[in-house]
This record gives sequence, C-alpha cells and structure tokens, in this order.
Amino acid sequence: MKHDKLISETQISSRIKELGQQISQDYCDRSVTLIGVLKGAFIFLSDLSRALSIPHMVDFMAVSSYGSSTSSSGIVRILKDLDYPITNQHILLVEDIIDSGLTLKYLLNMFYSRSPASVAVCALLDKTNKHPDEKLADYIGFEIPDKFVVGYGLDYQQLYRNLPYIATVNNVENNE
Ligand code: IMP
Ligand code: MG
Repeated sequence: MKHDKLISETQISSRIKELGQQISQDYCDRSVTLIGVLKGAFIFLSDLSRALSIPHMVDFMAVSSYGSSTSSSGIVRILKDLDYPITNQHILLVEDIIDSGLTLKYLLNMFYSRSPASVAVCALLDKTNKHPDEKLADYIGFEIPDKFVVGYGLDYQQLYRNLPYIATVNNVENNE
C-alpha cells in the first residue's frame, strides 16, 4: 500500500524519552499503573514503559471501536477488561491515537465509575482539529492533521502495525 512517512522512528523515540521524563517527574511520589488500550497502543506502551524511571504496573484493556472502516462509531466494545481493580489507584491511560475522542470519553467514563485515585491520559497522536475545543489528553506525543495514519501499532484493516514509523495513507475508505 502506498504510504508517506509523517513521523520518523527517530522523532518517535526522542519524543517518547521526553514523555517518559515528564511522566516520571509527575508521578515521582505516587505509584502509577499504565493501562494500554489494545491493540493500537501495544508498541507505544512498551516503549513508554521503558522510558519511565519510576516503578509502575501495567495492565491492558482491549476495545474495538472501528470494525474495519476508518471512522469512529462512538460505540465501544470491550473485548478484554482489565485484570486488576483500579479503585484508589493512579492510572495513566495509554492510547495510540485520539481522533473524534469518542473512544477515549467512553473509556474515561468507565474508569471513573470504578473510583480510581486519579486518571490521566497519554496519547501518542492527537488529531486536535477534530475536537478543537476540548483538551482530551494530559500528555500528547504529536499533534497530527486529520489524515488516516498507520504504523507503530496503528493499523488499517489489521495490517501495517509493524511499520517502525507513522505514515499517512491515501484512498482508504472514509465515511465522513
Ligand atoms: P476516536 O473514537 O474517533 O477517537 O477513534 C479512536 C480509535 O480509532 C483509535 O484508538 C484507533 O484505534 C482508531 N483510529 C482513529 N484514527 C486512526 C488512524 O488515523 N489510523 C488508525 N487508527 C485510527
Ligand atoms: Mg486504539
């Protein structure tokens, strides 16, 4: 599939180092659990975890918001719930990408209902102009334009997650 590189491997790794330092500082006096949203966040979470200098736990949740099309339905299906309760825990939700923000909002509501001590969000990519009036993440790797991207965990029809960089693809189905 024809694709154009948007963010290089080097840019990703240096930004993750910065995020890791920032998060390690912010949580230096609290124990935090990283919650990765599968599948898209699996590569980002594994690199972010190694960029943290503080002890932390890791848990995963698997959700499906897309089927095989390329725009969010707002309906989130929980395919796998967390292994551990999050009551009174400081949690950092690790997302691959925020597009409309619907998936994230759904997950945040679900987490808040379980009474955690705090919830913050770290997203590798944010299509900020899709939700101009709302700041949805506390930590953002890169703000990107409203284009469909693949690589570094992100897929198109379950493929291309293995690209070590982020690339834009043209001519994917777009329902908007
Ligand atoms: P939202 O609910 O519109 O914010 O969509 C969030 C989810 O849709 C992400 O967690 C991704 O799984 C998927 N997604 C959104 N934009 C893209 C993209 O450009 N490439 C690949 N997946 C995307
Ligand atoms: Mg995702």
